[in-house]
Amino acid sequence: MTMPEPASPDVLIIGGGLIGLATAWRAAVRGLSVTLCDPAPGTHASYAAAGMLTPVTELHYGEETLLGLNLASARRYPEFVAELREASGGADPGYRASGTLAVAFDADDRAVLADLHTFQRSLDLKAEWLSGSEARRLEPMLAPGVRGGLLVEGDHQVDNRMLLAALFAALEREPKVRIVRARVAELTVAGDRAAGAVLDDGTAIAAGQTVLAAGCWSGRIRGVPQEAVPPVRPVKGQILRLAVPEVYRPFLTHTVRGVVRSNHAYLVPRAHGELVLGATTEEQDYDTAVTAGGVYELLRDARALIPGITELPLVETRAALRPGSPDNAPVIGPTALPGLLAATGHYRHGVLLTPATADAVAEILATGEIPDVVAPFSPLRFRK
Ligand code: GLY
Repeated sequence: MTMPEPASPDVLIIGGGLIGLATAWRAAVRGLSVTLCDPAPGTHASYAAAGMLTPVTELHYGEETLLGLNLASARRYPEFVAELREASGGADPGYRASGTLAVAFDADDRAVLADLHTFQRSLDLKAEWLSGSEARRLEPMLAPGVRGGLLVEGDHQVDNRMLLAALFAALEREPKVRIVRARVAELTVAGDRAAGAVLDDGTAIAAGQTVLAAGCWSGRIRGVPQEAVPPVRPVKGQILRLAVPEVYRPFLTHTVRGVVRSNHAYLVPRAHGELVLGATTEEQDYDTAVTAGGVYELLRDARALIPGITELPLVETRAALRPGSPDNAPVIGPTALPGLLAATGHYRHGVLLTPATADAVAEILATGEIPDVVAPFSPLRFRK
């Protein structure tokens, strides 16, 4: 095993999910040298996710401020992936502007969607109400009983695994970034500042600024003073992947989100034939077991919307942990400890918020200025 070399970068990033990797890239674009530490970068929630970029169909009451950030990140996506394609030497980040259809299974579910539509219109968001037959004309695989839906052409998707691969390729070509495949044992604090970290093998990395981007583990790094610990918790999601054989394609042309007897389900069709089907939401601490009940409920609800899924091979079952915060909004910006920033707590929107978070954190690292769009998500908002 090769030991990581000691280093003194401008920035140390703890965590190699989409947020950490994209932040490393954007910080390097701003001229900063970066070391990113993660024993297994790109393997947790970022790898499991479905990659929906759906700020309008995933809107919730009380989350109007978050909506602003979500929309800003969704708008940034086309340019972000174009820049990434270039930086990576041509890797396709898997962005698809293919639209999202939210459908209702029964009359009660239809009332839920009608309510969502009223809320969307009150915020001037674009969503078109469709009858059941109009929805089926758009997506012929929908069950005959589906009661209508909402078409949101502006809610897109990205293949999160292709996005990860493109980020790795871009970082590989970026001389200012070094990825160290090791676990951080402890944050180093010198005087009243974060000063880097010590790895599991004892290697010390001194850094001018440190970013906590370790998803739901961001609150468990030793050495972080209590007042600077981001209040994140794990929220388990079980998610499945089906394969659509060539003869059935295109199986779906939009992402289909459904309300099924008050449960929420989604099916995300990839260009290369994968169909991602998710996801449970479970407060189970750090448990990542895939359970019979979880798989059963996901297949039951998806089948109620799209009966034809029963013909498709089930190729992957997985569970991963979303980082939830007390208000379920992200935690972005300087913490109470000078030199230590947080970029975590993205909960259901980690893939969507990757461009906005990475750009904003790179801006803070490079200039010390906090962009307006992330100011409401300061880690300091939880201080009593
Ligand atoms: N945004 C989808 C999920 O967290 O399941």
